[in-house]
Amino acid sequence: MDKVSEKWMACYRQVREKTDFRPKVAIVLGSGLGDYASQIQVEQELPYGQIEGFPVSTVPGHDGKFLFGYLDGIPVVCMKGRVHYYEGYDVTDVVLPVRVMKLLGAGILLLTNAAGGVNPSFQAGDLMLIKDHVSLFVPNPLIGPNPESLGVRFPDMSAVYDGKLQDKIRQAATEQGIDLKEGVYTQLTGPSFETPAEIRLLRQLGSDAVGMSTVVEAIAANHMGMRVCGISCISNLAAGMTKRPLSHEEVQLAADLAAPRFTRLVTESVKKFV
Ligand code: HPA
Repeated sequence: MDKVSEKWMACYRQVREKTDFRPKVAIVLGSGLGDYASQIQVEQELPYGQIEGFPVSTVPGHDGKFLFGYLDGIPVVCMKGRVHYYEGYDVTDVVLPVRVMKLLGAGILLLTNAAGGVNPSFQAGDLMLIKDHVSLFVPNPLIGPNPESLGVRFPDMSAVYDGKLQDKIRQAATEQGIDLKEGVYTQLTGPSFETPAEIRLLRQLGSDAVGMSTVVEAIAANHMGMRVCGISCISNLAAGMTKRPLSHEEVQLAADLAAPRFTRLVTESVKKFV
């Protein structure tokens, strides 16, 4: 087995030693969903730091642990905190947690994040269903030996975000009276925010939102045959779209303000997934 596969198998085995929980749905909680634990009946928590070799976040507000529990009877695993490529981790480490959650049993992955709005019709606080992504600016997480037991060398990416799951999220939004935007998410490496010229370029490329996560995780999950979906919280309009400079604090504050709606949408969507 190659070194990357050995690493995630070793992490998986350590998690398995600590829990026999078998999640159906995996949820990656982005900014603003930090208090999501209150939505689930938590059976067990596992701080990432207790898993040797597991990537641990260095960003304030991104402290990390797995939460295993039930959402309306559905077994879920939530990632409270994720690592980002800009922290210096290899991209294969960035997607390692998603690999582990699949090995634990999760067949569905819901990715969430805070993102900058690139589409001029968006406002801070909007929620956006991710319909597709642009991954061209970050390294592909599948570079390296291909773990044939998990997926093929050249995986199709023509429908990364599962159409049926998208419909369920739309339905949940309608039922909850939540205005849901839709669009294409582009991942950049960060950690610097973009320049206004870069945002104009992204708009020309067809991006509606920009952020520093999610896409590499979606690629790895799709490669492993997971059904993937994603929701962005538009925490700010991207660089150059307002007169104000961007800051991490603004992103966090806006994400926190949108949290009650975001939480409701995630919960009501997941209830429809299984
Ligand atoms: N750019 C990149 N990542 C982000 C932004 C942004 O404007 N907002 C939240 N994450």
